[in-house]
Amino acid sequence: MRKSFIVGLACFAITALTAWGAFGAGGPKPEPLPKAKTIKELAERYDSSSCMDCHEDIHDEWSNSLHARSILGTPRTAPTIITAIENGLKIFPYSGVTKDEDITVEHLMMCAKCHLPQLDEATDDVAREIVATIRGWQQAYRDGDYDKVDELQETIESLNIGCTVCHNKLAFIHKWADGYAQPDTIYGAMEGDHEDEVYTKMAEAPALGESIFCGQCHGLGPNFELEHPSQCATLYGSYLYSYVAHGGSESCQECHMEKSGLGHDMQSYKSDEMIDMAVDVTVEGRSLFWRKNKEDGVLPIGVINVEIYNKAGHVIPDG
Ligand code: HEC
Ligand code: HEC
Ligand code: HEC
Ligand code: HEC
Ligand code: HEC
Repeated sequence: MRKSFIVGLACFAITALTAWGAFGAGGPKPEPLPKAKTIKELAERYDSSSCMDCHEDIHDEWSNSLHARSILGTPRTAPTIITAIENGLKIFPYSGVTKDEDITVEHLMMCAKCHLPQLDEATDDVAREIVATIRGWQQAYRDGDYDKVDELQETIESLNIGCTVCHNKLAFIHKWADGYAQPDTIYGAMEGDHEDEVYTKMAEAPALGESIFCGQCHGLGPNFELEHPSQCATLYGSYLYSYVAHGGSESCQECHMEKSGLGHDMQSYKSDEMIDMAVDVTVEGRSLFWRKNKEDGVLPIGVINVEIYNKAGHVIPDG
C-alpha cells in the first residue's frame, strides 16, 4: 500500500514537470548534414571567425584558450595522437589498423570524442588527412622548414572547439526532454532573432550554464561506450564525487568564467587569476635548541609546518 503511494507520488512529480514545461527550446532531430570530405570543409562548418564581427571580446578570450586549439594542444596533444596510433592502434591485434591508410573516424574518436567531437560529421578521409597533416608538421620541424611548420600548424588549429560546438552541437544533453539543436539556431540564455546570417535564431539551452555541460568532455573516467575505452581527463568525476559530495556548490562556469573574470578564456595554472584562486598556503615555522644526545650535544633545529588547501572544485592537476 505504502509502496504504491510512493510510486503514485513519483508519477505525479513527472507529470508536474511536464505540466510546468521545464524544458529547453530544442526541436526534433534534424537530418544530418552530408559528411565533410576534407579538413577545410569541416573547419568551415565550425568556423568561429564569422562570430568575431559582433562578439569581438568573447572571440578574443576564446582565441587565447586551449579550446581554440583542441587537437594541437600546448602543443602536446597532436603528437600524443600519433603516439596513440603507433603504440596503440597499430599494436592492438583487432583494431584493423596496420598502416595510416587503415585509420577511420571511429579510431580517432577515442581522442576526438572530447578534443574534436564534430569529427563524427566527417568521412574517414578526413581522419586520415588529420593524421597526415600532424605527421607533415612533425617532419617539417625535423627538417627545420618553419614556413611549412606554420602553414600546417594553422591547418591543425583550424579544427577546434569553436563557438558552435558549444552553442549548437553540444548545447543539449537531455535531448529526449529538451530536444535537439537546430541548424539555424544559436543556444544561450536568450530567445528571439539573432543577427547572424546562418544562425538566425536564438533559443535557450537549459544546461549550458551548468557543470554537466563541461562534464561532456572533462571526463568521468574510462569512456566505456567506445569499442576500446580511452581515459584522459577525469576532472568532472572528481568535481562530482569529491567537491560536490563534500558540499561544494559552485559550478565550473562560476569559477572559470565569472569569478576569474576570464570569461571564455578558460584557463588553469598558466594564468595568474587561476593561480590566485587555486590554493591557500599557510607556513608556520619556529626554531629551537634540542638536546640530541651526549655525542652531538645541543643542536639548533627548525620546525616548518606547511599546509596546502586546495580551493579548486576538483583535484589539481588532472590527468
Ligand atoms: C551581426 C552580428 C552578430 C553576429 C555575426 C553573431 N551574433 Fe551572436 N548575437 C548578436 C546580438 C546583437 C545578440 C544579442 C546580445 C544581447 O542582446 O545582449 C547575440 C546573442 C548571441 C548569443 C546569446 C547570448 C545569451 O546571453 O544567451 C549567443 C550564444 C551568440 N550570440 C553566439 C553567436 C555565435 C556563436 C555567432 C557566430 C556563429 C554569432 N553569435 C554571430 C549579434 C551577432
Ligand atoms: C573524456 C574526454 C577526453 C578524451 C576521450 C581524450 N581527452 Fe585528452 N584531454 C581532455 C581534456 C578535457 C583535457 C584538458 C583538461 C585536463 O587535462 O584536465 C585533455 C588534455 C590532454 C592532453 C594535455 C593537453 C596539452 O595541451 O598539453 C593531451 C596530450 C591529451 N589530452 C591527449 C589525448 C589523446 C591522444 C587522446 C586519445 C588517445 C585523448 N586525449 C582523449 C579530454 C579528453
Ligand atoms: C567550451 C564551450 C564554449 C565555447 C567554445 C564558446 N562558448 Fe560562449 N558560452 C559558453 C557558456 C557555458 C556560456 C554561459 C555562461 C554562463 O551561463 O555562466 C556562454 C555564454 C556566451 C554568451 C552570453 C554571455 C556572455 O558572456 O556575453 C555569448 C554571447 C557567447 N557565449 C558567445 C560565444 C562566442 C561568440 C564564442 C566563440 C568565439 C563562444 N561563445 C564559444 C560556452 C562556450
Ligand atoms: C567539446 C569538449 C569540451 C567542452 C564542452 C568543454 N571543454 Fe574544456 N577543454 C576541452 C579539451 C579537449 C581541452 C584541452 C585541449 C588541449 O590542450 O588539447 C580543454 C581545456 C580546458 C581548460 C584548460 C586546461 C589547461 O590545462 O589549461 C579549462 C580550464 C577548461 N577546458 C574548462 C572548461 C569549462 C569550464 C567548460 C564548460 C564551460 C569546458 N571546458 C567545456 C574540451 C572541452
Ligand atoms: C571552486 C572553483 C572551481 C570550480 C567549481 C571548478 N574549477 Fe576548475 N579550476 C579551478 C582553479 C582555481 C584551477 C587552477 C588550478 C591550478 O592552478 O592548477 C582549476 C583548474 C582546472 C583545469 C586544469 C586542470 C589541470 O590539470 O591543471 C581544468 C581543465 C578545469 N579546472 C576545469 C573545470 C571544470 C570542467 C569544472 C566543472 C566540472 C571545474 N573546473 C570546476 C577552480 C574551479
